[in-house]
Amino acid sequence: MTETYFIPKPYTTSVESGCFTWSSPSNIALVKYWGKKKNQIPENPSISFTLNECKTITTLRFSKKQHSEGFSFEVFLDGKQQDDFKPKVETFFKRVEVYLPFLKDYHFTIETSNTFPHSSGIASSASGMSALALCLMSVESALSDTLEEAFFIQKASFLARLGSGSACRSLEGDLVVWGKHEAIQGSSNLYGVKYPLEVNTIFKDFQDTILLVDKGEKQVSSTVGHGLMHGHPFAQERFKQAHKNLTALSEVLQKGDLDSFVSMVESEALTLHAMMMTSMPYFILMKPNTLEIINKIWNFRKETGSKVCFTLDAGANVHVLYPFNEKEVVLKFIQNELVAYCQNGQYICDQIGFGANKIE
Ligand code: DP6
Repeated sequence: MTETYFIPKPYTTSVESGCFTWSSPSNIALVKYWGKKKNQIPENPSISFTLNECKTITTLRFSKKQHSEGFSFEVFLDGKQQDDFKPKVETFFKRVEVYLPFLKDYHFTIETSNTFPHSSGIASSASGMSALALCLMSVESALSDTLEEAFFIQKASFLARLGSGSACRSLEGDLVVWGKHEAIQGSSNLYGVKYPLEVNTIFKDFQDTILLVDKGEKQVSSTVGHGLMHGHPFAQERFKQAHKNLTALSEVLQKGDLDSFVSMVESEALTLHAMMMTSMPYFILMKPNTLEIINKIWNFRKETGSKVCFTLDAGANVHVLYPFNEKEVVLKFIQNELVAYCQNGQYICDQIGFGANKIE
């Protein structure tokens, strides 16, 4: 399959105006996406847990305009006009226009809100872009005679990827793979797919408590960070390693081998940040408190035999991952020992979820 598969045939129905609402979750990668080629094609496959509580809810209103020159849209966050979101949406519209040829025919109002605190440093691009992609697919669906549900989700993921790579892993399923991997049937560089292999029940209700270490704007965006993988001295080895880690993780997921899960997930997180530190120019997104938390987790594990572990995305916040049966003990540990390292003592309790939901 190539990109052209997602270019629609001429639409059969005409619609003057309408409104759709979708909620879509954030996700946290276990094997990380870091490095991309042209057109948002990942350099390596990645896999993530879909989150349940950290979501974006987006309502898209659309009405036919007189002239179809240029894109016409406004963006609102929590009811307030947000013009600084416009360049990102404009870039997204340009990238997806060939796949959604109606984009210039309508004026759009995009109203969005997050269930997690704004500027918490939690990436909202995954939930935000996937929610918007779903709303746009609802428009396409209204303009089309028939649109299979599986295709609807697949194309939403394809479009979300063009908005933000990791967003394509937020559509459907508790574990999602994006990027071609030889042992994962159906995996693709163009969209995320539900992880198709056997998963031990221990992972079905896994917990993720997100410790908000630094809520400020990142000094280096993910997009710039990905760019620095071009010509990076360790890039090719890293891409190979991600393939190997995904193969190894498949066995870990099937067996429920938590010790191996811990080492693989933590190693992936530290490798991601090692890539940042060895880029040129180099940069560090972890903060002193990130390291304090990591050390506390290591000590706690040593002392108690707990299977709690951490992962990081492109920022200073720490995702604390643990099985449901350790919830009480780990939450006590977080409250007693880790909250002190969070900005304003803030953290978010989440757990593995199942993907996007249509609201209206
Ligand atoms: C570190 O998806 O935010 O979270 O495609 O440029 O929008 P763009 O990047 P983005 O990168 C996220 C990378 C990561 C790891 C991951 O989620 O796999």
